Amino acid sequence: MKSGDFENLIDGKMISEEILSELKIEISDFSKKSRPPKLTVLIVGEDPASQVYVGMKVKASSKCGIDSELIEMPGDIPEETLIERLKRLNDDDSVDGILVQLPLPDHINEQKVIETISPAKDVDGFHPYNLGRIISEKARFIPCTPKGIMELLSRYSVETEGKEIVIIGRSLIVGKPMAMLLSAKSSGANGTVTLCHSRTKNIPGIVSRADILIAAVGSPGLITGEMVREGVVVIDVGMNRVDDPKAKKGYHLEGDVDFSSVQPKASLITPVPRGVGPMTVAMLMKNTLQAAEWARGDGDDIQ
Ligand code: GUN
Repeated sequence: MKSGDFENLIDGKMISEEILSELKIEISDFSKKSRPPKLTVLIVGEDPASQVYVGMKVKASSKCGIDSELIEMPGDIPEETLIERLKRLNDDDSVDGILVQLPLPDHINEQKVIETISPAKDVDGFHPYNLGRIISEKARFIPCTPKGIMELLSRYSVETEGKEIVIIGRSLIVGKPMAMLLSAKSSGANGTVTLCHSRTKNIPGIVSRADILIAAVGSPGLITGEMVREGVVVIDVGMNRVDDPKAKKGYHLEGDVDFSSVQPKASLITPVPRGVGPMTVAMLMKNTLQAAEWARGDGDDIQ
């Protein structure tokens, strides 16, 4: 049985396509008044997974009417060259959104790169200015994966208020902003959040309390059926490449959740693939339109 056949499935692929169609109309209206939004994507080196992700971002842009530009830089470029390039893109009025695909090669300081991108063009939402605005509950750009998860929970009418929400993984990209968003004092949030990480004691004990479980650690099959309660809502952010000689590509994708044992106990569950992944791309498109709107003076000041 394919994961697509289950009734309790959260279909991220379908929702993301709905969102891209909605956005296409909004962007077409926007582009009647102004030039279309433009996203510039930078990739450094030749990491195969990063190349796939970047390809998806460029493809989604053209699908919904966003102009995109892909800048490919060799893996051995000096950090300073990348920083200079970003500064020029910050000053370029024809560019609305800038995204540097991560991870970067070891000799480049990722945080320095993130902090070079103008917060007004930071469609990934990784700049400390944008992360700080989430903590103050005055969010501007929200990182695409947590934003996509909020959208899925809302579109599947998942009640979060007062619920026990367990997040596994404390990354700046997913876990930390997710914890802030779900514990915010606002509708669609108001959750009681527990953030677990590699030093957490008794993860199974904490997971067993979860009404909503979000796994974002990069450890295939970490969460198993006996760990979760009946009726749990499960969001699997894991995108682990597992060697598979039988697969065409030599690997297959696995989430952090052991789907076959968790799915029968869950009230709702995201599959991998076709779950959270496509939502991340759709939210990037949303953020890029917002960047373009804000750049044309639609919204309050942003530095
Ligand atoms: N690498 C993995 N996820 C992401 C993402 O959301 N944005 C960027 N820029 N790089 C990533």
